[in-house]
Amino acid sequence: MKIELPKWYDLHVHLRQGDAMEDFIKAQIAMGCAGVLAMPNTDPPIAKVSDDDWSIEAYTDVIKAAGGNAFSEIIVPLYLTSDTTPEMIKDGAAGGVLKACKYYPPHGTTGAQSAAPLETYVESGVFAAMEEAGVVLCVHGEEHGLSGEKYFGHESNAEEAFYNDYMPWLIDKFPKLKIVCEHITTKVAADFVKQASTNIAASITPQHLLYTVGDMVKGFKYHLYCLPLVKFDRDRQALRDAATSENNTKFFAGTDSAPHTTKATDCGCAAGCFTGGIAPQLYAQGFEEAGLDLTDSAAQEAFKRFLCINGAAFYGLNVPKETFTMVKEEQAIVPLETANGPVTPLPLGMGQSTIPWSIKA
Ligand code: DOR
Ligand code: ZN
Repeated sequence: MKIELPKWYDLHVHLRQGDAMEDFIKAQIAMGCAGVLAMPNTDPPIAKVSDDDWSIEAYTDVIKAAGGNAFSEIIVPLYLTSDTTPEMIKDGAAGGVLKACKYYPPHGTTGAQSAAPLETYVESGVFAAMEEAGVVLCVHGEEHGLSGEKYFGHESNAEEAFYNDYMPWLIDKFPKLKIVCEHITTKVAADFVKQASTNIAASITPQHLLYTVGDMVKGFKYHLYCLPLVKFDRDRQALRDAATSENNTKFFAGTDSAPHTTKATDCGCAAGCFTGGIAPQLYAQGFEEAGLDLTDSAAQEAFKRFLCINGAAFYGLNVPKETFTMVKEEQAIVPLETANGPVTPLPLGMGQSTIPWSIKA
């Protein structure tokens, strides 16, 4: 079985900085990626638009020099900090460089230590300026600073708290603000996005379509440790329903592929799953596990909407004319050798040395 698809945009990926970028970018291109939304949680973060050694403009050039000139689109969101001003938003949008901004929960995940609480940008006028200029808000939707039992439980968790308590308040204040609820993991978040207006959409990662927290805890598979955490079966089911629905216009691919050469540390674990090179294959596996028969043309259309169409439409990007082909043939999974050492792809970290789908060169 074969599926030919337009090349797609990975609308949430971590390309990092330094010598290994070339390897990560090669892996993106190998999986039919025509463009990326590259996360700004570098060190230091990308917190300026231009005119600086380290800004959206500078980082875009760095990505291009590392092989990203093959991409037809590179969006780098501005990392929101307490130093972000409405003028930066207005000028950045007017100059065409600023398309999106990223909200991180302070200290809530890898590289989130420069972020400020959501209220900061309400008070500073930053969100108002974004709404006015049509700049997309990319949200890592988790409440920060919670106690352990509130952070992760069956009744509630940091993501549910965010979508129940903060998002309704935010969209009430800024009803026209374009928001991507990134890497959603819960039924609460999926339901929130479904009932919200058309300026609210969401990305879903391969790991959240495929796994639940039990898969991580059983054998402590730390390569599946990412933030937000994988959740329960009811949540995975809600994500599968949202992604595969024939009416889906709001849910799209954003891998959150996050390479870490060292996952387990002395007293913890770095958050992030690496799916570079294999994300469409894993998404296809997720669609099949959701019960879709990808030999069926309606199922293929649903897959195409999720991978290639909905995200491009939300960000106002053209769907590429160039295509790539997926085949239902087993592919061996090996570590990605990089300038910084090997990175373990998620399936290998889950003890699987093959996956059911491949990409035809
Ligand atoms: O799992 C994650 N890894 N979640 C994030 O929000 C950041 C990312 C990373 O940069 O490694
Ligand atoms: Zn991310």
